[in-house]
Amino acid sequence: MVGFKTILLNGANEGLPIPESMYTGLLHGHSGLRYLLLIALIIAIVAAYRNVKSGGAYAGAAKLFGLITMILTDLQLLIGLVLWYVYMDTRTHFKINQFKDVISNNTARYFLVEHFIMMLLAVLSIHLGYRMAKKSITGTAANKAQFRWYLIALILILIAIPWPFYGNLGRGWF
Ligand code: HEM
Repeated sequence: MVGFKTILLNGANEGLPIPESMYTGLLHGHSGLRYLLLIALIIAIVAAYRNVKSGGAYAGAAKLFGLITMILTDLQLLIGLVLWYVYMDTRTHFKINQFKDVISNNTARYFLVEHFIMMLLAVLSIHLGYRMAKKSITGTAANKAQFRWYLIALILILIAIPWPFYGNLGRGWF
């Protein structure tokens, strides 16, 4: 096992740190999962909004999709962390000087810094919304918490997805 200090001084091994088929599978998984996540997130927001309007309890679709969204987001985060590690390893070899050079490139900075931080904030918003909804005393407060925090997450995710129309930063639809 190569130590962290050795990697910082000499860089990690050339090539992908994980098998190529695994990397391709994870990249496609990460790409496709965005749609499931977006669908679940939108249902969770709409259902919570409807409950707020009708004065309903925090139950049914709002509660179910609140949980499904959180699970899908965590899965996306997990895959994202592996992709981030691979991206960082292959482009910068975890060397500080190479990292400085690499982040002067828009695409690399986008994936290593901007996409990473915005998505992390979205994950935190979803966790916060879910926790606050569970801890709320009244149904209305719970639905409102989920509605607000999940909406913030939706906006962040929609902005931070590398949509094909983002020019150089963009990726495919799938
Ligand atoms: C939570 C919601 C997220 C969504 C919806 C999302 C979506 C996407 C999409 C659509 C791509 C392009 C995939 C392709 O090329 O086909 C991508 C790439 C990437 N994502 Fe995410 N992502 C999320 C979170 C994260 C997080 C939290 C991280 C880091 C921890 C991350 C790291 C990356 C990296 C490094 C790439 C580029 C992979 C490569 O080209 O090797 N993502 N993401």
